[in-house]
Amino acid sequence: MSALATFVGARPQFIKAAPMSMALKEAGIDELLIDTGQHYDDNMAGAFYRELTLPSPALNLGVGSGTHAQMTARIMCGAERILQDTKPKLVLVYGDTNSTMAAALAAVKHGIPVAHIEAGLRSFRLDMPEEVNRRVTDHISTLLLCPTANAVINLMNEGLAPQGAATHCASMDECRTLRPNSQRMVANVGDVMVDAIVDAEGRGSEPEWAGRLRRHQFALLTLHRADSTDNVDTLSYLVEQVIDLSRNLDVLFPIHPRTRARLKALGLLETLENTQGMLCVAPLPYLSFIQAQKRAAIVITDSGGVQKEAFTLATPCLTLRDETEWTETLVGGWNQLIGTRPSSLRDAVARSEKPAGDATTPFGDGKASQRMAAIIKQYLDQYAQH
Ligand code: UD1
Ligand code: UDP
Repeated sequence: MSALATFVGARPQFIKAAPMSMALKEAGIDELLIDTGQHYDDNMAGAFYRELTLPSPALNLGVGSGTHAQMTARIMCGAERILQDTKPKLVLVYGDTNSTMAAALAAVKHGIPVAHIEAGLRSFRLDMPEEVNRRVTDHISTLLLCPTANAVINLMNEGLAPQGAATHCASMDECRTLRPNSQRMVANVGDVMVDAIVDAEGRGSEPEWAGRLRRHQFALLTLHRADSTDNVDTLSYLVEQVIDLSRNLDVLFPIHPRTRARLKALGLLETLENTQGMLCVAPLPYLSFIQAQKRAAIVITDSGGVQKEAFTLATPCLTLRDETEWTETLVGGWNQLIGTRPSSLRDAVARSEKPAGDATTPFGDGKASQRMAAIIKQYLDQYAQH
C-alpha cells in the first residue's frame, strides 16, 4: 500500500508533479499517482508524461470535461473509490483546479489528511473558479505548502497560519513552530515550478515553431481563462487587438483547447490562422514552450503559471487580467496588468521595454520539491496515523 496518494489532472499539475514525484522517490516515499482525466488531449496530458520525469499514473479516473459541478462530482466519486481501496495516509494535491478541490474534499471526508502544494495564493475574486478551489482546499488541508512569503501572509490573514509565519522552513521541526494548532502546518518552501524550469534547462531540441516564424522578434500569447474566453465581446475584441499587434511583431499562439473551441464557434479561428504574422499552433510540449518564453520579446498571457515562468526566465510579460495571484512578478515592471480589454495591445507592447537589471527570485531556489518531500516524509513518519 502506498502511504501517499497524489491527484493530478490538468496541464500545469503534470509539470509540477514531475520534479515532485522524483523528490518523493528520492526521499523513499511510495507514491500512488492518480490522474483525474480533467485534461485528456495528448498535447494537454499524455505528452507531459512522455517528456518529463513523471511516472505513468497508476490510475486514470477519465472524468473529462463538463460543468464545474459535474467535474467536481465525478472526481469526488472516483477519488472516493480509490481512497477506500488504497487507504493512503496522506493525499497530495496541486494548485487550484477542480481536480485539486474535489480530490481534497474526497480525502478529508474519509479522514485522510491533505497536503496542498501552492497553498495561500489569492486573487481575492470569488467569481473566479480557481479562487473557490484554492480557498476550499487551503481551509481543509493539513500541510499547507506555500510557494512564497506572500502566500503565507494570505493564510495568516485568514487565520490559517500564526503571526510571523512568513519564514522559510526546510524541515518539519521548523514547521512545527508554524503550527497554529495540532491540525495544521504551514511552510514557505519555494515554488516547485522553478524546480521544473531548472530541470528543463538545456534539455529539448530546436523547437518546430522556430523555423515557421517570419520575423526574428515575436510575442508569445496564451489565453484560457474564463474571463478571456467566455464572453463573446471580450474574445472578439482580444482577437482584433492581437491581429493589430501582428502587423508589428510576429505572434506565436499555442491555443488551449478551450480557447480553440470558442474561437472556432465564433468563426475567428480561421481569421487568426490566415493572418500574416500570426503563428497559431496546438498547445506546445513543455520544453518547447519554455524555449518560446525564453526567446520571445514579450509574453502576453492570462495564465498564472506563465506569468511566473516569464518572470523567472527574465522575459517581460503583459497579463490580460486586472489582478494577479503572483504579485511578486509586478516588481520592477517585469509583469504588467493590462486588463482583459487593453485599449491598445500594440501600444502596450511598444511601451513595455525590458526592465534594467535582473528579475529577482522570490520563487525560491529550485529545491522546493526536495523541501516538500522532506516535510511529507517527516509528517508520514511522525504524525500520520499508522
Ligand atoms: C483548467 C483549470 C484552470 C487551469 C487550466 C490549466 C478549473 C476550473 N480550471 O482550466 O484553473 O488554469 O485548467 O490549463 O479546474 N478541453 C479539451 N481537451 C482537454 C481539456 C479541455 O478539449 O484535454 C476543452 C473542453 O472543451 C473543456 C474546456 O477545454 O470543456 C475547459 O477545460 P477545463 O478542464 O474545464 O478547464 P480549463 O479551461 O482547461
Ligand atoms: N504550457 C505548456 N505548453 C503550452 C502552454 C503552457 O507546456 O502550450 C505550460 C507552461 O510552461 C506552464 C503551464 O503550462 O508551466 C501553465 O499552464 P496553464 O497556463 O494551462 O495553467 P495555469 O498556470 O494558468 O493554471
